[in-house]
Amino acid sequence: MRGMTTRTPRHSRERSNFACKECGNETAKWAGRCPACEAWNTLVEWTPASGRAAARTGVATDVVDIGAVVSEDGARQPLGISEFDRVLGGGIVPGSLVLIGGDPGIGKSTLLLQAAGALVGAGKTVFYLAGEESASQIKMRAERLGITGGNLLLYPGTNLDDALGRASDLLPAALIVDSIQTVHTAEGGAPGSLSQLRESTMTLMRWAKDTGIPVFVIGHVTKDGDIAGPRLLEHIVDVVLYLEGDRFSAYRLLRGVKNRFGSIDEVGVFEMAGDGLRAVDNPSEAFIAERGQGAVGSCVVPTLEGSRPVLVEVQALTSPTVAPVPRRIVNGLDSSRVQLVAAVLGRRAGVPLAGQDIIASVVGGLRISEPAADLGLALAIASSHRDKPLPADIVALGEVGLTGELRSVTHLERRLNEAERLGFKRCILPESTLQRQRPKIGLELLPAASLKDAIKLALTDDEPSFEGDLP
Ligand code: TYD
Ligand code: MG
Repeated sequence: MRGMTTRTPRHSRERSNFACKECGNETAKWAGRCPACEAWNTLVEWTPASGRAAARTGVATDVVDIGAVVSEDGARQPLGISEFDRVLGGGIVPGSLVLIGGDPGIGKSTLLLQAAGALVGAGKTVFYLAGEESASQIKMRAERLGITGGNLLLYPGTNLDDALGRASDLLPAALIVDSIQTVHTAEGGAPGSLSQLRESTMTLMRWAKDTGIPVFVIGHVTKDGDIAGPRLLEHIVDVVLYLEGDRFSAYRLLRGVKNRFGSIDEVGVFEMAGDGLRAVDNPSEAFIAERGQGAVGSCVVPTLEGSRPVLVEVQALTSPTVAPVPRRIVNGLDSSRVQLVAAVLGRRAGVPLAGQDIIASVVGGLRISEPAADLGLALAIASSHRDKPLPADIVALGEVGLTGELRSVTHLERRLNEAERLGFKRCILPESTLQRQRPKIGLELLPAASLKDAIKLALTDDEPSFEGDLP
């Protein structure tokens, strides 16, 4: 019987020697392209974490009855920063590990120092591991943020084992690690390596669970995933939040990507000011504050950020192209949606754009990915092309289909209530949406079956009417 079948060696599945920086997939063989996420050049050498070996050989665990387990939800403690708490699901859960990712310079350290300040202000002790900046740099920032002393304890070093030893003696209300890329633990291998990154995170995770102390970890991400990524850590931690925004705009969004203790449908909106990040309680007002009356090429769209309606201004500018191929310059929108909308405008709605460059953007550095903004974008482009403003009291909502039809959108009432609250009077929306629901709102509804109809409603000389066919 021996030798009848050729078996793969038993260890070959278990032993992964490479991992993808983007998606965290582990493989035994190196390849130019990740077999899981198909990104190029993202595989790096990677020794499986010894934490897993520890889990295999670890001490025995007691079995518990779920009825006897104490829920931690009641113990959630609010940080006192409304927009941060909202994204966390009401506050921080004891023993949880929260990863805050984002581009360098976006404001991660600022946000967490403010969170520390809020906790210290409430009489609690916070342990801040500062691996990136010196104690005096942090002090300067703290002064700028109005944090005066209290029990904010700085550890200006990068030795994680030593820091955790000290934190275990001090038992703070929270531990902040700034950043995970700078710390190292004895078991993790070469500093800065992927295995070090993961081992440090797992060490922090174990420490959080053992002590019941919540831990915040900062992780830098770059667009091309240069620095071995927080993406790999997402699987390990409890909560992953990303701080995003346009560097040249003051607004920052804190978005939930994973949350073991709450919804990821919440988005926190902040504004970077001279004294740190300020919670923006009323994002719609902020995002359309600078909108000019009678501006050509502008349309307001009631979008949803998570579960929250936010009004944003979509702008477009068309101009005759001087390049061999017309250009599409897009900021804050999905560029393939812009291409699609431009093509449909040309073929189905009588707005010829073949010889036109199109620049489209969302004001305030916000990113919109939902197709419900298509109609607003289309109207902004049409408005620019005809050099005629949309009425100032109109918002528009709808997905544009390839035949020029308008497709329905979700959560109509929530969006329209927000538009009404901010003083808008009318909304152009897909006819099909109203067949399914009749929202109870004060806004005048202007249903349109197609993009062509919507343009007629929005850009006629007279008041928009349902017939709309004007010379
Ligand atoms: P920082 O928190 O250091 O970014 P990260 O930790 O994500 O790398 O924030 C850096 C930027 O924020 C910096 O360019 C200056 C700006 N900033 C303000 O505008 N106001 C402030 O009060 C602070 C502290 C920073
Ligand atoms: Mg920083």
